[in-house]
This record gives sequence, C-alpha cells and structure tokens, in this order.
Amino acid sequence: MNYRYQQLADELVEQIYAGLYRAGERLPGVRSLSEQRGVSVATAVAAYRQLEDKGFLDVRDRSGFYVRPWAQTRSIDTPVETSATGPCEISGQELAMAMIKAANEPGILQLGAAVPEVRFLPTRDVERAIGRVLREQRHTVANYMMPPGAPELRRQIARRLAEAGCQLSPHEVVITNGCQEALMLALRAVTQAGDTVAIESPAFYGLWHVLESLNLKAVEIPSHPERGISVDTLGFALDRWPIKACVLVPNFSNPIGYCMSDPHKRTLIDLLDARGVTLIEDDVYGDLGFQVRRPSLCKGLSPNSDIISCGSFSKTLSPGMRVGWILGGRHHRRIEQLKYVSSIATASLPQLAVADLLESGRYERYLREIRLTYASAVARMSEAITRYFPAETRMTQPQGGFVLWVELPEDVDSIDLAQRALQKGVSIAPGPLFSATGKYRHFMRISCARQWDERLEQGLKALASLL
Ligand SMILES: Cc1ncc(COP(=O)(O)O)c(C=O)c1O
Repeated sequence: MNYRYQQLADELVEQIYAGLYRAGERLPGVRSLSEQRGVSVATAVAAYRQLEDKGFLDVRDRSGFYVRPWAQTRSIDTPVETSATGPCEISGQELAMAMIKAANEPGILQLGAAVPEVRFLPTRDVERAIGRVLREQRHTVANYMMPPGAPELRRQIARRLAEAGCQLSPHEVVITNGCQEALMLALRAVTQAGDTVAIESPAFYGLWHVLESLNLKAVEIPSHPERGISVDTLGFALDRWPIKACVLVPNFSNPIGYCMSDPHKRTLIDLLDARGVTLIEDDVYGDLGFQVRRPSLCKGLSPNSDIISCGSFSKTLSPGMRVGWILGGRHHRRIEQLKYVSSIATASLPQLAVADLLESGRYERYLREIRLTYASAVARMSEAITRYFPAETRMTQPQGGFVLWVELPEDVDSIDLAQRALQKGVSIAPGPLFSATGKYRHFMRISCARQWDERLEQGLKALASLL
C-alpha cells in the first residue's frame, strides 16, 4: 500500500531535486503544508519525519524544517572531452580484475564496487520467496528452464516494462544470467570479432571486459554528467568509422548517474536509425530513480527501431541471484540460441523466486522505500566528500542509482590512490577503469549504498588524508 504521507514525501523530494527548495531553505510549516496539499496535519508531519529520517531535512527547534546542505556540493558541469578518438582495441583489463579481487578481501571497506551492501537488499523477501518456491515447485526447480526462460517471470517482466511505457509480449523476453550476460549476448548477436562499437565514456568496467573478450574495438563518445551521451560527437564518429552498435546506459548511467530526457533519447534513436546502427540499452538502474516517474526505455519510445534492451535485478533484489533479461527485438531468435550455447539456461530456482516476488507486489513496495534511501545516501556521501576532500574536488549529482563520480585535484593519480587506499582498508574504483584509453586519471567512483557509521566516516577521512 502506498500511504499518502509517503506520496507527499516523494513529491517533496522531487521538488528538492527540481531546485524548488534549495539547500538551507525552509520548507512550508506543517500547517501550511497540510492546507496547500489538502492533507491532515498528521500526514504532513509524517512526511517531514520520513524526509528527516532519510537525511533530506534538518529540524530546527521552533523554527521548522530545512533542506540539508548537500545541494551545495560542487558539481561537475562540463564533459571532460568533446571529441571522439578513433577505434581502439581494449586491453589492460587485468588491472581491473586484480583490483576487484583485492577489494573483495574480507575486512575491506567496499566503496569501489557498484553493489549495494547486503543490508540494503530485501534479503528476507528473497529468502521467503525461495522457501515458497522450494515447497510448492520442487519438481520444476530440479529441471532446466530452457531459453527463453520461466514463462511466469517473462510475463511479470513484460508487465512491469509495459507499465514503464514499453509495450511487449512475454514472448519477446529472454531470461539471462544477469545484465552482463545480456550485454554479451546482444553484442554477440550484432557484431563479429574486429568490429567497432560506440561506447559512452566513462562506461562501467564490466562492459570493457565484454568488449575485450569479444575482440571488439571501441570508439569512446563523451557523456555529459547531466544530459548524457553527446549525439553530435556520435554523429561525427558514425560519419568516420564503420560502427556496428552503440552501447549505453540511458537511465542513471554508471558511473555518472545522468538520465537522458525523452527528446534526447529520440534524437539519439533517429540518428542511429538513419545509419542502420543497433542501439544496445542497458537499463539495469532504471528502477532506481530518485523521482516518482520511472524514466522511459528507448525501446518503448521507438518499438520499431533496431534496439536491444538489457536489464537485471542485481541492483535491486540480489546480485547473487544472477537474474536478468534481454529484449532482442529483431535479433530475438539469434539471442535465444546464443543464450542456450552460452549457459544452456539460467538456474530455475532464482527465476521462479524472482517471479514470485514480482507477482506478490513486494518488489514494488521495496522500490518505493529504497529509492528514497539511496537518494539520501548519495546526498550524505556528497556532503561528507565536500567536507573532507580538498577544495578543488567536484562530483556528479546523480538522478538515480547509488554511485558518485568524483573529480579529484588534477595532480592526483587515482590508480596510485586506489592502491594506497587498499593498504588502509578502503577500496575505491579509480577513473581509468572506466575508459579503454586510460582517461579519467584523476577521477574515482564511490558507491554510496553503505550503512552510514563510524567505520565509513573514518574510511572517508583516511582516503582524504591520502590526497
Ligand atoms: C551499468 C551496468 N550494467 C551491467 C552490470 C552487470 O549487472 P549484472 O550483475 O546483472 O550482470 C552492472 C554491474 O555493475 C552495471 O553497473
């Protein structure tokens, strides 16, 4: 059930994000809020209390509710670069693998991986769903669930996406082992070794691993921290090089967190349509926006275009379940076959458990809560970085997800910083991991999906002391 106070809290967060109420400004008093919105005083108080709990507001005795100062964080407001460099082969992913392994050692404060700390995930709900499926569908669980995957799960995914404006039938969905496998299948379906693809830059390092393993070349297209991929630069690259596909995360990209507007998405789609280039959209963060309205999928905006859409439940329900999906469009048959070759099938138990969670409505309830939690965690982390890091430090203001992209003073080498930070027990993701050509030397990505406690605060101070 969505309570009125919760709706009101969501609306207020949207207004704060839209700049209607700035950092340090006072919100309407409880009585005027209740009159303005036609709700009871108790509802207005409950909404304010929720925003206070989530860290959006400060309460000052006798004086009211004030927006916390996170909006004053120094933001990155220009793209790092505005031109595309030519196709390059991908290499050097061993560094990323070594850092991922080292950062996973027990006892390390994990700020590097874009994975929520377990306490943020709905583990109880997942456990109950697994228990129910084991009791009720033992025989189904014991068997393969061949591609395209569990019918009930495909139906639930198609329903959710239809609610987000992307009308499709369950027959168009193929279940995958997470979004990473979906991206791999999409690229395998439309490219061959030696081909070139356009990738937004910076881009999450899992994608560089996929490109390297498929022997693909990449042209890096700069992305603006608020608007997203530069369509002009993409057009320039399409004129010059034989690009087969373009891969990007239009909703809450990792690492910069922008969400492309619908007109911008349409311009991009028109450009790619005109050149006959496949768009591969990765929507793994699409459910984690800080605003109430879920952003659209490119596939929903233009159902007849050559668009492959990928997603998963790794950032919301559980990365360990490895349940994702792919909408292959005109490449559906090929993708289904490639999925079979790649891993025969996705494990039956996680597929059925996720279907159960979606059907029961618990997933939606969880999302309503977690979106606010992440908005507040990102705000709090921004505030702490502003406080502890050197004055020249700048960062993104993501509109969803839970990672921050931080620009450090220019003379900082973030790979060296990451290595020294690991010795102090803190992992970060250094900027060059997000580029095929070693860009973003003085950038890093920080995950904010961590419990705010003394250990985190000390870890940030230790990181700042290395700068
Ligand atoms: C943008 C993006 N796409 C895909 C993935 C991989 O997702 P999964 O764990 O579902 O394979 C990640 C994980 O970090 C990601 O950030």
